Amino acid sequence: MSELTRKLPGSRKAAAEELQRLRRDIEYYNARYHQDDAPAIPDADYDRLFDRLLALEAHWPDLVTEDSPSRRVGAAPVDSFRQVTHEQAMMSLAKVVAEEELQAFEHRIREQLDHQGTLAYSCEPKIDGVAVSLLYEDGKLVRGATRGDGVVGEDITHNVRTISDIPLRLTGTRPPRRLEVRGEIYMPRSGFERMNRQAGESGDHVFVNPRNAASGALRQLDPRVTAQRPLSFFVYGAGLVQEAGDWPRTLSDTLDRLGEWGFPVNPQRSVVEGWRQCLAYAQQLLEQRDALDYEIDGAVFKLDDYRLQQHLGATARSPRWAVAWKFPAEEAATWLRDVEFQVGRTGAITPVARLEPVFVGGVTVSNATLHNMAEVERLDVRIGDRVVIRRAGDVIPQIVQVVKEEDIPAPLRDEAPVKRRVITMPEHCPACGSAVEPDGEVLYRCSGGLVCPAQRKESLKHFCSRGALDIEGLGDRLIEQLVEAELVHDPADIFCLQRESLLDLERMGEKSVDNLLAAIDRSRHTTLPRALYALGIREVGEATAVALAAHFGSLEALMEADEEALRQVDDVGPIVARHIVVFFGNDDNRDVIRRLREAGVQWREQARREVSDALAGQTWVLTGTLEAMTRDEAKARLQALGARVSGSVSKKTHCVVAGPGAGSKLAKAEELGVDVTDEQGLLALLAEHES
Ligand code: IVH
Repeated sequence: MSELTRKLPGSRKAAAEELQRLRRDIEYYNARYHQDDAPAIPDADYDRLFDRLLALEAHWPDLVTEDSPSRRVGAAPVDSFRQVTHEQAMMSLAKVVAEEELQAFEHRIREQLDHQGTLAYSCEPKIDGVAVSLLYEDGKLVRGATRGDGVVGEDITHNVRTISDIPLRLTGTRPPRRLEVRGEIYMPRSGFERMNRQAGESGDHVFVNPRNAASGALRQLDPRVTAQRPLSFFVYGAGLVQEAGDWPRTLSDTLDRLGEWGFPVNPQRSVVEGWRQCLAYAQQLLEQRDALDYEIDGAVFKLDDYRLQQHLGATARSPRWAVAWKFPAEEAATWLRDVEFQVGRTGAITPVARLEPVFVGGVTVSNATLHNMAEVERLDVRIGDRVVIRRAGDVIPQIVQVVKEEDIPAPLRDEAPVKRRVITMPEHCPACGSAVEPDGEVLYRCSGGLVCPAQRKESLKHFCSRGALDIEGLGDRLIEQLVEAELVHDPADIFCLQRESLLDLERMGEKSVDNLLAAIDRSRHTTLPRALYALGIREVGEATAVALAAHFGSLEALMEADEEALRQVDDVGPIVARHIVVFFGNDDNRDVIRRLREAGVQWREQARREVSDALAGQTWVLTGTLEAMTRDEAKARLQALGARVSGSVSKKTHCVVAGPGAGSKLAKAEELGVDVTDEQGLLALLAEHES
């Protein structure tokens, strides 16, 4: 947002004008966000407007008005809910993004407290949900309220009562006569995806992110609607406490106590000493971010000792004893410059967005997927639009929303780099010029088959990939070079590559050529499921390949099977069966298989197995990275033994396989006392049961 980071206005008059515009815009975005649950621009852009407002007001304090958005925490409540005045204001948190800012935060605390010793902090994930206040009297839930503007919120008791995570009555030792807890209501990612998928299918409103979905669910006038939404809750502190008996002296002890009374407390919280350990906590949390089933936008560090908190007090907006460490935003707005069409392994043509580079999720992004033309239509996106990009973890960046013309911050409206135009599917394949044909309702395919160099390259990339023959060093770039130099046309050619011709390629020295040839040689010995998967039969993923190999035992038996025989295999329906029969009926494919064999590629035939039920009735969870196999393969092999493989840990989980980088699922397993093993343990188990 170049316009908004520029230097301050030159005159008071110019500042006053800009402030007026900023306030109007911020009020408008506030209303869209808080009252409509439909943010018009990404948080990062909103924050920049707000920061600009604060900067101008700091420079011209006499221009600050009573009703400036800088004086308020959130937005005023809507009219349809009863209003609740919080007995203790619900504040906001100061935010920091850099190490120096965190250090300065601690420095200020030390100065104000005149404190030299260590400082203990309660560290917690900053949940990206909706802040709520829950009031209990004599252990019974009597009121739930939103934060609103921090002073006055909305009464959402009827909706809060439908959330199973929130106790209606407190358990354990005697709670205070009046107890107000505060925390965050959120929608787990898994529930959000499920809900949006169903909404998409039935044509209902699809939410942009879990936070807005949670907020929308809480603002339902009919609690029966809320009850159907997957909402959860984490408590992060206490507000008003009356007649408490002996109350803990630290926040961390309070959270333990709240846990005993039946509130869900975040398992990722931790008490550390000093700002450096806070930083280390934040870094660790960031690594686990993708593995958590809820969205977080940072970490919160709070002084653990209540006495010190009290000494420090608060500013108008936020307490001095706590700070939010913000992670890089996962959403940002930018311009859609162009759309190109990519051809996949099976000829499917995908629109890919070329963007004005934008920093999002910690990296600069200039491409995003648009999936298919149905998605283009759903988003109603055109070239030249301002779009919201989302990049979460290692997931491919996506366009999630178009910013409407009237929602684009005024200074940016004239900055569109290209003229607006409609996105249309080309009639001819951009790689080979063959006709593009529709396939089903949303897909388009290039009709060129293996004549099309793009399809050839993609099939080869698939053949060499990790779950397939796993040829180390034969990456995407090199495959493109090999196809362009006409050294490789199909997978069998890889095994006939000559040292001399490889040395002629750009950037290939003696050493890399030797390494590559050694890797190709190693890959000659593989397994039947890998070989099958590598062939790239449509709809045959790793799991189906494992199931087919177990059922037929050999490639010959599979090649001879008709559709009916194929459909005996779990997982194989009429469409997959048809694809398999068509694939093996094709002479070119049979020829590639014959030549692979001649080139010495061999897979261990496996004894034909009846479906084993050694693990029947057990639920397994895979988390972290695996090294000897992909997660899909592990899943398929467990399923082949009768196990169910689930994405989340519960008391009913039989065992969790945790590889390096395992996060919340491992923590949850430990908390619940569920068995945990590593990849070696899994391999041993598979070896024992796979005949
Ligand atoms: S403490 C006075 N802890 O972040 C401090 N807030 O700007 C009260 N949030 O909307 C906040 N996770 O609802 C705290 N572990 C956590 C949090 C958390 C999310 C939200 C909070 C508020 C915002 C603070």
